[in-house]
Amino acid sequence: MESLEVEYVPTPPDNSRFRGVKKFLKKCGCFCLGMTFSMTLFGLTLYNFIRLFIPEEPYVRRGCQCGHRYESVQDEVFGEWPWQVAMRINMTDVDHAVEDEVEKFCAASLIHEEWLLTAADCVPYIGGVPKPEAIVVSVGEVNKDMWNYTVSAEERSVDLIIVHKDYERERHLDDIAVMHLSTPVNDTKYIMPVCLPLKHMDLNFEGETVTVTGWGTLSFNQRVSETVIAVDLPVLNNDKCDIYHKDYPVWEDMLCTYERGRDSCQGDSGGPLVWLNEKGRYQLIGVTSFGTICGKAGSPGVYTRVTTYIDWIQQSTNVTFCMPKK
Ligand SMILES: *[C@@H]1O[C@H](CO)[C@@H](O)[C@H](O)[C@H]1NC(C)=O
Ligand SMILES: *[C@@H]1O[C@H](CO)[C@@H](O)[C@H](O)[C@H]1NC(C)=O
Ligand SMILES: *[C@@H]1O[C@H](CO)[C@@H](O)[C@H](O)[C@H]1NC(C)=O
Ligand SMILES: *[C@@H]1O[C@H](CO)[C@@H](O)[C@H](O)[C@H]1NC(C)=O
Repeated sequence: MESLEVEYVPTPPDNSRFRGVKKFLKKCGCFCLGMTFSMTLFGLTLYNFIRLFIPEEPYVRRGCQCGHRYESVQDEVFGEWPWQVAMRINMTDVDHAVEDEVEKFCAASLIHEEWLLTAADCVPYIGGVPKPEAIVVSVGEVNKDMWNYTVSAEERSVDLIIVHKDYERERHLDDIAVMHLSTPVNDTKYIMPVCLPLKHMDLNFEGETVTVTGWGTLSFNQRVSETVIAVDLPVLNNDKCDIYHKDYPVWEDMLCTYERGRDSCQGDSGGPLVWLNEKGRYQLIGVTSFGTICGKAGSPGVYTRVTTYIDWIQQSTNVTFCMPKK
């Protein structure tokens, strides 16, 4: 066999391309280089300037789940409203407790694996100081009777409560509070945070159909529900709401629902009012507040308007909130 020897011949550098560039440089010289340099500098400056006006997304976390309900299987009622939280308050020594009151019931919404959002009205105080020890919550709960445990439920204690500093009990102003769970919850089929309306801050939801859920009496004279029920209601214009509500002024940071013929009892204080966005994700837009003066026909339900408190919620919790892409 003959071995094949291949002589290595280096390819000569192809200068033709560079020749063109050289010619070009000779023609336009320093002027072109200068222009290129200044244009680049200008571009960078413009980019940084424009960036100042593009809002960052400091509260947002991707790659997570919120506001999603699984299809309920036949008669299964668990996990229908997986952010609904039951809240039991031991009223021993609590300020504002009425005589012989041993326990109070409220609701809250799971907004993060460690945080709940509720009404300030629900927070127990002892000597003017919020008392987390007086609260037991049940996440993934469907039964109001918390001792009748459901397979889906997880009980938690609360180790921190932050009430809005401008909260005023008499006039129900800034009726909002966040509570930190002693142990975080994991998403299950029955437990899932609701989305905060981070992408819908400019909406007033007027005329939109929204859903309130709870265990409370959902219509006047009806008995208290033992399992979570939901009612769809339209959002009322705030000015109209203010006219209906003679007892209290209705401010912009409140939201009203009203439907003729339906009463104003809308579930439990502190519970969620949700709106389904175009991507099929439930957004928490209200916290059930004082409209729950039941039995007064023709009075709208009033909620704390969550979109006005996004900054407050973020600053109070210092966590990022889920905003799924889809
Ligand atoms: C309620 O709180 C009081 C005082 O802290 C305590 O003695 C009592 O056992 C509590 N009740 C329940 C049902 O936990
Ligand atoms: C417990 O809750 C279920 C509904 O989840 C209900 O059917 C049952 O009657 C309740 N049991 C008691 C003892 O209340
Ligand atoms: C939640 O998930 C983490 C990580 O998978 C696990 O370590 C933790 O025990 C879970 N917590 C609960 C309450 O299931
Ligand atoms: C908020 O969270 C960030 C990141 O986890 C942390 O660096 C910062 O110290 C926190 N701020 C407060 C006021 O807790």
